[in-house]
Amino acid sequence: MKEKFLINGGRQLSGEIVVEASKNAYLPILAGCVLCDEKVTFLNAPEFLDIENMCAILKLLGARVRRVGAILELDMGGLKNQKISFEYTNKLRASIFLLGALLGKFRQAVISYPGGCNIGTRPIDIHISAFKSLGVKVVERHGYIFCNAQNMRAGKVVFPSVSVGATESLVMSAVLLKGKTTLYNSAREPEVVELCKFLNAMGAKIYGAGTDVIEIYGVKKLRGVEFSVQSDRIIAGTHLLLGALAGKNLKIVGAKRAENERLFDILDGCACDIFEDDEGVVISAVGRSDALKFVETLPYPNFPTDLQPQLMAFATLAKGTSVIRENLFENRFNHVMEYTKMGADILVKDRIAIVRGVEKLFGADVFATDLRAGAGLVIAGLLAEGYTTVHNVEFIDRGYERLEEKYAKLGADIKRVKD
Ligand code: EPZ
Repeated sequence: MKEKFLINGGRQLSGEIVVEASKNAYLPILAGCVLCDEKVTFLNAPEFLDIENMCAILKLLGARVRRVGAILELDMGGLKNQKISFEYTNKLRASIFLLGALLGKFRQAVISYPGGCNIGTRPIDIHISAFKSLGVKVVERHGYIFCNAQNMRAGKVVFPSVSVGATESLVMSAVLLKGKTTLYNSAREPEVVELCKFLNAMGAKIYGAGTDVIEIYGVKKLRGVEFSVQSDRIIAGTHLLLGALAGKNLKIVGAKRAENERLFDILDGCACDIFEDDEGVVISAVGRSDALKFVETLPYPNFPTDLQPQLMAFATLAKGTSVIRENLFENRFNHVMEYTKMGADILVKDRIAIVRGVEKLFGADVFATDLRAGAGLVIAGLLAEGYTTVHNVEFIDRGYERLEEKYAKLGADIKRVKD
């Protein structure tokens, strides 16, 4: 059933909002559960659509999955290797993480190509070439990838460019592989670190996570664990940007400077007050911010592409002209058209968006095209004068838990209705 958010903008937002656990850490970690055949219990699993879709794939493989509130129990005993069809990979691009996990566990995998999505073609050539460099036989036919890792050997992989998913997939394929595997030019994202922390808690021997060289010493077996995943730095960044525009002593529990350095550098120069303690951040908007001279998205620890649409919403109302360059995905400016409908003044040329700040946005009918663009449209709607309808909220539900309820609790006039 299609749903939409109805927003009446212009309210000041106060109170407290708790950041959920990280979607982009949970997804590879759930795939990593395939590597053990015991019970794994997660204590803070958000109700994101993407997590439900990943659990559906684990059930297909024979896992018994039970959710009681935020507690997610998986019994991984008796798993059977299965072909992962397009029906699953189309709903969840992160299903590609199962390639590494299935090769790690069964030394065989057959998986349909994960769909591209609205932000780009999302190729997996880096994953495939890395597996081949460790002796995995890969055949791509009729939309499926057939992998045979019977002759897979521990060794060295040099990623041609930084890929979060490829780094995570290769780590999972090597944790039960005899010998030492070294991954060069690895992604350094906190989600990679969290995955390695989880696998090490299960008994894996992984060193260097968070740096560009990760070493994996194969072990015989992984054991079940109880685990809680760190907070989602992209959700935290989303709330911080909203707070910098409309917050009044808005407390964001779980937001930490350490994982959003570039965003905090930007906010430190903006018209907002920020108070940080070990619980999180309290932020208040104190006027109209100056424009962002130049911000570009790059792999961690640089500014994250997943906050680019939300940052652009912020820039549409700044004083002056901001320049934003999107380096990661070739089609991640779909939100520009939607902001323009609300009165924003944005010019796009290739990977560059030139955002001339306006005094005011006006409510309009807008359409989410992906998860983060949807979040950006909610921010714009909450700031705009008048009524905004955000359609396709199923995109937002993939990585935000009942966002409208949480923002309504802060004083926003937002509700979810049938579309
Ligand atoms: C992860 O996607 C995240 N998803 C994305 O978040 C995030 O935007 C991205 O990392 C970058 O930080 C999950 O973790 C589930 P990449 P991933 O491989 O792993 C190119 C969200 O909104 N590339 O680091 O797919 C690719 O096209 C999502 O939560 C290849 O060319 O990203 C991109 O230009 C959106 N070949 C760049 O590398 C490959 O084999 C980085 O992609 C793989 C990637």
